[in-house]
Amino acid sequence: MEQSLIFGIPFLHYKTKNWKKYRRFLQESFRNSSKFTDFWDDRSGPDLPDYCDKIVDVITPNLQKFAEVISPNPVMITEMWYEKSKKGDKHSIHNHGGQGYSAVLYVKYNPEIHEPTVFYSAFRDPMKGDFLRWQPSEIEEGDLIIFPSELLHEALPNKSDEERIVVSFNIASWQQMRSYNVGKKEVEDKFRLTGSLNNNSAARVGF
Ligand SMILES: [Fe+2]
Repeated sequence: MEQSLIFGIPFLHYKTKNWKKYRRFLQESFRNSSKFTDFWDDRSGPDLPDYCDKIVDVITPNLQKFAEVISPNPVMITEMWYEKSKKGDKHSIHNHGGQGYSAVLYVKYNPEIHEPTVFYSAFRDPMKGDFLRWQPSEIEEGDLIIFPSELLHEALPNKSDEERIVVSFNIASWQQMRSYNVGKKEVEDKFRLTGSLNNNSAARVGF
């Protein structure tokens, strides 16, 4: 008899080193944000939000580890946004398309009252037909999770008066993004600028 388990789903869970050092100044970045999210803000192309610099400072060591484990090539952040959830706010089941990996950084999160992201399998239980649901355990503030962009997931309603803030971003390989955008001159020009990790006008590369 041969038994196989096929199509595993990679899921990575990183702790942020020295989270206490970054905690306050990251949370302060979103203090004046009145919206649930800036996802719909027009940034014209692959531009990233102003707070991206701060986030990148915090996540670079873990993204370097991710790039070594997952991809033999450099990876880049292609989009970034925040979600600030007050009582009752949620983000229903969705995915981020098939572009690579997606990530959640738990910027303001109380494990005693908030719930971590819920994930759903693309395949249902073969015997019962039920959706297969999974939540990462032991999520704490400052944690970073990374998963395939196509994986369905959900932010459950915040049941408390204490707000929850996450920063999400999408990650692609350098080669993949270049091939998607062949012929789009304005994008190619921006990609040429990405040799510098300090250039916030373009997607980041080189983790
Ligand atoms: Fe999401």
